[in-house]
Amino acid sequence: MPVEVPSVPADQTRACGVRAPGYRHGVRIDGSVIVVTGASSGIGRATAVELAAQGARLALLARRDEALAQVAAECAAAAGTDGRTLVVPTDVSDADAVEAAARATVERFGRLDGWVSCAAVTMFGSLLDVPLADLRRVLEINLLGYVHGARAALPRFVAQDAGVLVNVSSLLGRIAQPYGSAYTMSKFAIRGLSVALREELRAVRGVSISTVLPAAVDTPIYAAAANHSGRVPQPPPPVYSAERVARVIVGQLRRPRREVVAGGVLGRAFVLQHIVAPRFAERVLALDVERSLRHDGAVPPTSGALHVPGAAPAGVDGGWGGARRERRRRTAGWVAAAAGALCVTAARRWRATDGRRARPGGRS
Ligand SMILES: NC(=O)c1ccc[n+]([C@@H]2O[C@H](COP(=O)([O-])OP(=O)(O)OC[C@H]3O[C@@H](n4cnc5c(N)ncnc54)[C@H](OP(=O)(O)O)[C@@H]3O)[C@@H](O)[C@H]2O)c1
Repeated sequence: MPVEVPSVPADQTRACGVRAPGYRHGVRIDGSVIVVTGASSGIGRATAVELAAQGARLALLARRDEALAQVAAECAAAAGTDGRTLVVPTDVSDADAVEAAARATVERFGRLDGWVSCAAVTMFGSLLDVPLADLRRVLEINLLGYVHGARAALPRFVAQDAGVLVNVSSLLGRIAQPYGSAYTMSKFAIRGLSVALREELRAVRGVSISTVLPAAVDTPIYAAAANHSGRVPQPPPPVYSAERVARVIVGQLRRPRREVVAGGVLGRAFVLQHIVAPRFAERVLALDVERSLRHDGAVPPTSGALHVPGAAPAGVDGGWGGARRERRRRTAGWVAAAAGALCVTAARRWRATDGRRARPGGRS
């Protein structure tokens, strides 16, 4: 059945469309209306708070209503005002529920300018060991959830010739991870979904689709994971903070690009390494994953938050010290840069002194 697209009043169309050199249309965040899925925890939660602080009006989607209410309160505190956030408890694997959430958002705020698909679950274990029901559920949430988001958002964007869809994939959508095949498949598929949609909507100049590829991020996703590996999963280093990824997502809403890595220089270097030497990069990642599934003895199998939410506390970070590690890496970077500059200066001075000595009549 085709999705019914509510008409948008003329004065509201393109209300948030801005053109920036080298970019397609983006969203002026202040005053815009944005849906964030997966807003109860981790990157989605950090994105919601960042958007609220920049003046956006938000619809927050996830399954846990109490956690969403807390996020709404955090958004109100960040915005310094109430009434700009709509909480819509939604399971993104239910297409009708996602469409209803989009309709409720437009009813409440009058329009829709951006949609961030972030809701996801993950699962650890060999493809041969994981229950098929769990594998299907990962694909239902991580892939069909994004399809449902696109089918709810894009008809409205097309009708007003303005809007940005941000699909949060992963570096694992470019470089496959063993013992996480369902998650990896979903993240590869999201990149394909974005590319296909972008081409289908090429003629609609005001609509943009951006894919964000975060590196390992400190969020509760590892504690909420389904786990059939027998070991305790943890993020492979380097680990980044959810707030950092949130800033990248907000940047994509404002100035959308096709695909961006959210994981600093190291994340981009890893992608480059995969382009240059794919087998080597895949082996390095596999070793990292094998190491990061710690040998803590037999951990009983669990479906985590796949079928029922709440396997891990909702919060922005997952206790892996992402922000602290980020600060340490930044300090180490500055120290290395300062040491390098010092060495260059010393070498130049030494060469200058040496040159004077070597010249006839120079001091010895
Ligand atoms: N953390 C990382 O290392 C990392 C790395 C690369 C990419 N990413 C991607 O970043 C995005 C956010 O992940 P995160 O690390 O922030 O994870 P997270 O903290 O576990 O958050 C996942 C969010 O998805 C929601 N969710 C799960 N199943 C849902 C469903 N059926 N319907 C609606 N909402 C659902 C959860 O809320 P409820 O449980 O309340 O429904 C939660 O709000 C994901 O797309 C993930 O793949 C994460």
